[in-house]
Amino acid sequence: MKTDLFLSEGVKFKKNYKPDLLSWNEMANIINTRPLMNDKRVKLLGNNKRYEWLCTKWTKDPNCFPPSLIKKLIDNIMIYFVDMSRATEKINDFAKHIEDDYGKQTDAHIYVCRNLKIKHHFGVHYDFNHNLIVQCEGKTNFKVWDEVKNVDRNLKGIGINTRLEMEVEPIMDVDMESGDAIWIPKHFPHLATSLTPRLSVSFPLSEYSDTNLIREDRTWITL
Ligand SMILES: [Fe+2]
Repeated sequence: MKTDLFLSEGVKFKKNYKPDLLSWNEMANIINTRPLMNDKRVKLLGNNKRYEWLCTKWTKDPNCFPPSLIKKLIDNIMIYFVDMSRATEKINDFAKHIEDDYGKQTDAHIYVCRNLKIKHHFGVHYDFNHNLIVQCEGKTNFKVWDEVKNVDRNLKGIGINTRLEMEVEPIMDVDMESGDAIWIPKHFPHLATSLTPRLSVSFPLSEYSDTNLIREDRTWITL
């Protein structure tokens, strides 16, 4: 069996590893491009409300959130946006770099939190994928605990991996600032606490998605 490079490297933190990956301005442009705001891409954390809006006769995809509604929501709850690895040239290039390094397909999940009163929806949790997280704007405290052994993948999806109560000290406790990056392998519990409004991009890597099976088209065309 091939060794899992991400796992063997363990938890890592690098200061100013990827500066200028995504700014508030660039994120606003993404949100303003309404066809990108399809409800499959927009994940509202801790909010099961159903939203409805009217569309004009010209709308091709009526399931895209209007930008003003997204603005209202991100000022109150945490939202993350998925399938964003080609949202900008810089994110696409960085995704390519990660895919080349680890030999796994990746995506870009953009996290936005602008309300410091809300707690992280998952609390202390671990993921079933590895994650490389780049802080883009603002400051977020990250705590990471040692690996949970004997994870039963069959239990995935029923909340065994979220809102964990930790009885030991974290193995890493860092304040992430713009440009900083953290590598969190699967099954390592972590907690992100926003200290200021923040924008970050998380690149998930699954052990079951080799780039030699299929690769995203990472060509960035110019005309
Ligand atoms: Fe996570």
